[in-house]
Amino acid sequence: MPHIFVQSTRLWFTDAGTGPTIILIHGFPLDSRIWDEVVPLLTPTRRVITLDLRGFGQSDETGSFSMRQLAFDVAGFITLQKIGPCCVAGLSMGGYVAQELASESHELLSHLILLDTKAESDNPDAQNKRNEMAAIAREQGAKAVADQMMPKMLSRNHSAAVEGKLRTIMESQRPETIASACIAMRDRETYLPTLEKMSIPVDIIVGEEDAISSPELMRFMHERINYGRMFEIPGAGHLSPMENPQAVAKAILMGTENL
Ligand code: MLT
Repeated sequence: MPHIFVQSTRLWFTDAGTGPTIILIHGFPLDSRIWDEVVPLLTPTRRVITLDLRGFGQSDETGSFSMRQLAFDVAGFITLQKIGPCCVAGLSMGGYVAQELASESHELLSHLILLDTKAESDNPDAQNKRNEMAAIAREQGAKAVADQMMPKMLSRNHSAAVEGKLRTIMESQRPETIASACIAMRDRETYLPTLEKMSIPVDIIVGEEDAISSPELMRFMHERINYGRMFEIPGAGHLSPMENPQAVAKAILMGTENL
């Protein structure tokens, strides 16, 4: 699978299928492997691109970055590949990147899908927790971060296989990248004003048992959006594409049937 230079950084991506283009953006502290089970369900009718954000997965390590930088990377990718306007779907931190992209470069988007994410910025308590998590990453490494996050990521009755894969993905991320992402998330602005004025469809997808971005929180977002549908995914927590890929793929296909 290929790499591409965007903003002087080598980003790793996969590209499969035919049809309208959807770019899938992973969450924190993860990489494109969270979409492994969803991609083959979409590719018969969609061109599906997964992207490892800078520093994550197989993309090159860089210094510190902001949420805006991550969005510039996606904008650069869309421009270089000449695939805009297209659909961008982001999960959790990937949803922050997608919303940042919507506020900076909305002309590159035809459709936005927000999975298990939030629109509002961190309050002071959440910001302190970001600082603590950044310190844990730097001082104790990715495994200690995974230990902290694991209990909040999956539904009550999750499978051991999904838990094992999720842990493998989290533990393989670079501690410096994890710390930089914590600081970038800590400093992000609210995206509610952007969502409220979006004139393209914005779909919401949330695991019924998401303990980080609850269905209530995401319904609040949905109610502020002009066009778009909301899908609740049964048997899934925060990592809905890993826990119920069939239902997530169905929601993505239904939401984008008019692309
Ligand atoms: C994620 O899954 O990307 C994170 O939980 C996002 C966050 O901590 O705000």
